[in-house]
Amino acid sequence: MGTSSTRSNPAQVVYIGAPRLTRLLDGWGDQPGGLSTRLAEALRQLVRSGQLPAGTRLPSERVLASALGLGRTTVGQAFDTLRATGVLISRTGSGTFVSTAAFHAPARGDDRLRSFVTSPFGSGGPSTGHPTARIDLRSAALPGIPMVAEELDRLTAADFIETLPSHGYVPRGLPVLRTAVANYYTALGLRTEPGQILVTSGAQQAMRILAETLIEPGGTVVVEEPTFRGAIEVLRSVGAHLVGVPSGRDGVDIDALAATVRTHRPVFALLQSTVHNPTGSVLPEWARAAVARLSAETGLTIVDDAAPTDAIIDGPLPPPLASYGGRVLTLGSASKGFWGGLRVGWLRADRRLVERLAVVKGAEDLGTSIPAQVVTARLLNRAAEARAHRRATLSVARELALQILADELPTWRPYTPAGGASLWIGLPKGHSATTFAERAGRAGVDVLAGPTFSCQDVLDGWLRVAFAVPQDVVASGLHRLAELWHAGHDGAQRP
Ligand SMILES: Cc1ncc(COP(=O)(O)O)c(C=O)c1O
Repeated sequence: MGTSSTRSNPAQVVYIGAPRLTRLLDGWGDQPGGLSTRLAEALRQLVRSGQLPAGTRLPSERVLASALGLGRTTVGQAFDTLRATGVLISRTGSGTFVSTAAFHAPARGDDRLRSFVTSPFGSGGPSTGHPTARIDLRSAALPGIPMVAEELDRLTAADFIETLPSHGYVPRGLPVLRTAVANYYTALGLRTEPGQILVTSGAQQAMRILAETLIEPGGTVVVEEPTFRGAIEVLRSVGAHLVGVPSGRDGVDIDALAATVRTHRPVFALLQSTVHNPTGSVLPEWARAAVARLSAETGLTIVDDAAPTDAIIDGPLPPPLASYGGRVLTLGSASKGFWGGLRVGWLRADRRLVERLAVVKGAEDLGTSIPAQVVTARLLNRAAEARAHRRATLSVARELALQILADELPTWRPYTPAGGASLWIGLPKGHSATTFAERAGRAGVDVLAGPTFSCQDVLDGWLRVAFAVPQDVVASGLHRLAELWHAGHDGAQRP
């Protein structure tokens, strides 16, 4: 067991390959000045915008020159300029890196998590532009439902009569919430005792605690391609070796999963059985049974990140994956059904593992906020009502987004998501989502390219467009994307 602060962290250095950097640099020649000046300016802008985060290792001058079709001296001069101004640093024998000097955005992690990092309330500093000019379709995080305000309104000091006289640090979670989560699973068809639940500050923390506890640096974890970016970051931060298995309209490819598990013997396989982020898939019942059999036969541990469960749109909720047998640990969250701002999630496991993980949780933050837990316990008792609310609003938002795409971008191939608030869209062959997303960003619409969700930095033929913001904003964003596409800024990889 270790923590992210004590272990050596090979994942802090992000390497960007020449093909991806070339895509990000698309249009760099539009800058004024000589070739090396233009290239330096384009690289500086990528650093400023956070697309090349501090610590990123760049391709060598020779490799980048050949990828861009330039002389090595030109690239060398551009790198020299950026070194002289502190944007890049070179270390003999290790390569050239984006400097960690303070003004360069984020010193750790990946800018692709930026859609979470950006505050919906602004930076707190003076406004610098037109608030309505940019449209952000990156985040699929949903606004709180009215029920959250209702339950907050009902809280009084009397609700804390038992907890206030204590110190209030409860690493396992408040009994009332552990019971409410256990009842939530039992109602979904998975018998659960409160002792099998560890309350966490969001499913994201549950993932981190599990990763820190179970994975030694270099340990293999199987993940779906694509998968949730937040999981890739956490797993990389503990030094996991990630192996991808394809995941499509019906969730993970079962045959590929079985073959990969038998070859790699991973510490665990991270799956998203119920409302996959980003594809929106729900694993069908036959596939749930097959995953359970695989786990039972091979001893494979499955971590089922089912955090988005309550954002289901189509059909009844299938019983949780863990109810089919095998060794399945389940992550859940109050974020999708109720509100991400509660910062309450949980993990369901056997009691012994819960006790072990509670020690790590205690060491991380001593326990989740008591008021947040109290209100979440009440909300969970109304989970079915919350799901009906989400279903009604998300299905309308989904139809609108799909209709606009069908009308204005008929060559795009979106999945129809069974849940969630984003569209996973296959672009026509030969188009780069990274290049298109870059162009869209410059035109004021932010979307995420497929490699964001890939542990191998592939899936560049895919784009994720979220529809979590108000419908008029989604519609304007999609209209702008269509205009851009038809104006030729379509990310086509022309010779
Ligand atoms: C699949 C998945 N897992 C985990 C999370 C994080 O959830 P929480 O807000 O509970 O930390 C998200 C949020 O977007 C998610 O989509």
